[in-house]
Amino acid sequence: MKVEPAGALVGHIAVPGDKSISHRALLVGALTEGETRVREFGRSGDTESTLHAVRALGVTVDEEADDELVVHGVGLRGLRSPGDPVDCGNAGTLLRLLTGILTGQHGTFVLTGDDSLRSRPMDRIAEPLTRMGARITTADGRAPLTIDGTDALHGIEYVLPVPSAQVKSAILLAGLNAEGVTTVVESVPTRDHTELMLEAAGARVRRRPASVTVEPAARLQLDEVVVPGDVSAAAPFLVGATLLAGSDLTIHDVGLNPRRTGLLDVLERMGARISVYNRRKVAGEWLGDIEVRSAELTGTEIKPEEVPLLVDELPIFALAAAFARGESRVRGAGELRVKETDRIESVTNALRALGIRIRASDDGFGVRGVPSRPNGGRMSSEGDHRIAMLGAVAGLVSREGVEVGGADAAAISFPGFFDILESVSRR
Ligand code: S3P
Repeated sequence: MKVEPAGALVGHIAVPGDKSISHRALLVGALTEGETRVREFGRSGDTESTLHAVRALGVTVDEEADDELVVHGVGLRGLRSPGDPVDCGNAGTLLRLLTGILTGQHGTFVLTGDDSLRSRPMDRIAEPLTRMGARITTADGRAPLTIDGTDALHGIEYVLPVPSAQVKSAILLAGLNAEGVTTVVESVPTRDHTELMLEAAGARVRRRPASVTVEPAARLQLDEVVVPGDVSAAAPFLVGATLLAGSDLTIHDVGLNPRRTGLLDVLERMGARISVYNRRKVAGEWLGDIEVRSAELTGTEIKPEEVPLLVDELPIFALAAAFARGESRVRGAGELRVKETDRIESVTNALRALGIRIRASDDGFGVRGVPSRPNGGRMSSEGDHRIAMLGAVAGLVSREGVEVGGADAAAISFPGFFDILESVSRR
């Protein structure tokens, strides 16, 4: 798909419901007793995989509207093996959280996914879950995973070796069906949607600055989840509007959980003009309206402890950095190498192809910014949704437009992305 240059981004938009929270609403809803109504559910390729998965495991989900679902929970140990493997598609969050859940169910389950998901590390969950007494076989540390459910899980205290909310969540979810308490220690805070939702569902969760503990649960009940807009889906628009002179764009009802808003903080310290209105808490999560106007940016350095707060936004940060005066750097982001693609390589390949001066390092990248439009050209998403959206915004801010190869990958997290982008682009 060719994305032509734009003059400005102007108007009001909403983005899909948060992907992390949408996955969790289905997965935790499945474990409750009674009904969980999920409002503003974020439909996407990834969350569609979760919908299929919970249904395959015996959970009834009514679709009352495109973005409103009712999950009929089967209780903490009520999932049933479908016999066939459960296909998690491209969704790492689904595969990892569901593994934690299945360790304490009755029966044998096989979880697999697409080529990208089957190449990603799963020993990071298999290892701590095995310590809890889980029976998991991996294919050389990768999916497919075979999980033999057991009644004999026990709590552990586990220090996360890599900052990962997916690993933390898998362990906490297994802890619901374990004997004794389960504690995950994280030296660097990661997103806490699992903890917040389990608390809302009545689980006993104790949160300290560097750890979280869950007690075994007798039953969960979660009447309603209202999913805020996905700040990661808002990110390409925030960067596009910042870079295009004359922009004034408002994104409504965006999730503002402080463990997700690292990009807002980083853009602001680079000089971006971002205002938040109507900040409020709904069902335990912060949200608000974000207005962004164009601004001139200065380069910045992202430190390792900031990385989890904007990990999925680092590709689009690279484009902001390309326009910022001076050098920008990202350090301590080795986790980018094990995302849907190796995002240190895929971001570098994509932006270099457009004439942007970006260099990869082992655990991040450096960008030499120039506050003027790059020429444009051709790049490839490499099948990665975040890279497809990066390419599209690069097209808007380029001189000659960008041909985005594999643009359809955007639908993994944001099916209407190109239409919404077009609707606010002024040429
Ligand atoms: C997610 C956690 C992050 C993030 C992913 C979603 C989650 O992954 O990159 O897109 O929903 O918990 P890691 O936990 O592997 O860092």
